Amino acid sequence: MAQSLSDAHILVSMTYASRANPDVSAKDFNEILQQANENNAANGITGMLIFNKNYFLQTIEGPRAQINRLLYSLIADTRHHDLQIIETRELKHRDWAKWSMNYASPTPANAAIYLKYSTTLDFNPYLLSAEAANNLMHELSTQKSS
Ligand SMILES: Cc1cc2nc3c(=O)[nH]c(=O)nc-3n(C[C@H](O)[C@H](O)[C@H](O)COP(=O)(O)O)c2cc1C
Repeated sequence: MAQSLSDAHILVSMTYASRANPDVSAKDFNEILQQANENNAANGITGMLIFNKNYFLQTIEGPRAQINRLLYSLIADTRHHDLQIIETRELKHRDWAKWSMNYASPTPANAAIYLKYSTTLDFNPYLLSAEAANNLMHELSTQKSS
């Protein structure tokens, strides 16, 4: 696919929700993370991925052309389905510059953070506003490293 030079210099982020396929396990999640880390480091992509209650919530950020290319791969990936874009925007700077792919899974310690941004007791990223999704990911990330 041809990639225009100007596209490669525009930084964008995309946040989406999806449903994991029923046979996706914690081991598969680790494989996805490893694949994401390897590819993203090579493609100038950074971001954050949450796996909880069979849902994924992910932000990817990087050159516009690479983010669009990854979107096609994600849509075609049979480990999840119903990919729904929550937000895309241009960035002045990256939010996740330190991570090829940061991540969070549910733990007793972070349960209250999921609830803080949810209207339902069960985590459901399809119900989150873009702002809530973003705040949730940042709080989970801060809590993990503190
Ligand atoms: C929830 C989820 C998140 C993913 N995140 C990334 C990612 O951040 N970067 C990436 O390259 N692939 C990611 N993948 C994998 C891609 O869908 C696709 O399998 C991969 O990019 C193809 O890589 P390959 O060309 O090296 O086989 C993710 C897959 C899933 C199911």
